[in-house]
Amino acid sequence: MAKIVRRIGLSLGADICWPICYEALLKELDLEIEHGGDTLTFDVERVFIEPFDLRQPCRYDVVIDRLTHWYHTSREWIKKSILTDDLYVFNNPWSLQSMEKQTTYCAMMRLGFPVPETWLIPPKAYTESADLQPTLRQYARLFDLAGIGDRIGYPLFMKPYDGGAWVGVTAIEDSAALRSAYDRSGTRVMHLQKGVQPHDGFVRCIGLGPQWRCVNYDPSAPLHDRYRMDTDFLTTEEESHLKKMTMVINAFFGWDFNSCEALRSNGVWCPIDFANACPDSQVTSLHFHFPWLIKANLRWSIFCAATKRRIKTDLNWRAYFDVADSDRPFDEKLEQYVQIARNRFDSDRFYEFCDKHLSHLDEIAFEFFATETVRQAIRQKVEALFPAHEIEEFTELFWSRVQAWRSHESSLSP
Ligand SMILES: Nc1ncnc2c1ncn2[C@@H]1O[C@H](COP(=O)(O)OP(=O)(O)O)[C@@H](O)[C@H]1O
Ligand SMILES: [Mg+2]
Repeated sequence: MAKIVRRIGLSLGADICWPICYEALLKELDLEIEHGGDTLTFDVERVFIEPFDLRQPCRYDVVIDRLTHWYHTSREWIKKSILTDDLYVFNNPWSLQSMEKQTTYCAMMRLGFPVPETWLIPPKAYTESADLQPTLRQYARLFDLAGIGDRIGYPLFMKPYDGGAWVGVTAIEDSAALRSAYDRSGTRVMHLQKGVQPHDGFVRCIGLGPQWRCVNYDPSAPLHDRYRMDTDFLTTEEESHLKKMTMVINAFFGWDFNSCEALRSNGVWCPIDFANACPDSQVTSLHFHFPWLIKANLRWSIFCAATKRRIKTDLNWRAYFDVADSDRPFDEKLEQYVQIARNRFDSDRFYEFCDKHLSHLDEIAFEFFATETVRQAIRQKVEALFPAHEIEEFTELFWSRVQAWRSHESSLSP
């Protein structure tokens, strides 16, 4: 029996609060896990940005990454490490690089999810390039923008096909507003999407490996109030349905960590934005839900590191399409997709592992989130985002919400 260190790397950008909490809580856990005849301990390190030899070995078993979607040096280092050293990383960098919102809409439409009617339109303007004019002259057809607007119906939303962070999103009420929004859209390729209006529910379902949390979301609130703190806003069936949709989406695209937005209209949950594979992780947005994220992150990364989980670069879409093409109602298809997704995430093995090796996590986390380490982590994040005169107030606000999570947890335990 050997003593082996499993190494978890954190590939970070502007992240402050969650890595501090992740590292401190991992230390508190003080794990020594018997696995496959060995005793495993766990180290966490921050990954630095530096030149690398393409043949150089990777010292990590798992990397939790926050940079791939915009910082190419890290992305290429991660791809190299998967290819040459079997690194496991959240999230799959190839799938992150190539799956835009547009791809996710098409794929989930194919699977039968009630994604609202969506059109893609060519851009209003172009950056000149050598072949641009001959291409457009020959092949770009004039199109009737107002006609497309009428077919979709109003209200509709214009938004970038590869969007994120609400940039370039416009709610449009009529054809004049559509024309003016298109004229202002510049070189971006846009979607026009039927508005899910009126809607009486807005949920963000966060998935981390085979773990999910549905959060009531208020897009009209200021940033620090968007993630609501209520916990009983869904029926059991609705919660299970939203978790299943998120599980299937994340398994389909090979994303370990992603968040899916869905709106409820006439009792139907319509997914509208589910290509967010580097979701909000900061206490300043998540507050009450922040401890859940840290715990979920620890469980999944420790499981992946301990079991030397292999990243699945093959997405196996055909298995889903075979179900999609069969003659069954959507709810039955969803159950079939869920089976494929459960296998992909090794859900049963994961939960067995947690019961066996991480059963003390909840209790230790409960104590940990009352410590000065957490308060200081919150303060540091607040100092990075808020003006000086608001630092005290907002540190206290987010701290009090983390404490509200503790009270809620203790009200649940027998
Ligand atoms: N089809 C839609 N129906 C109703 N509201 C929508 C629709 N599409 C977008 N919105 C609103 O616009 C916001 C931003 O759009 P979203 O697709 O989530 O883009 P982003 O990727 O930038 O977050 C949503 O959170 C929602 O409030
Ligand atoms: Mg969104």
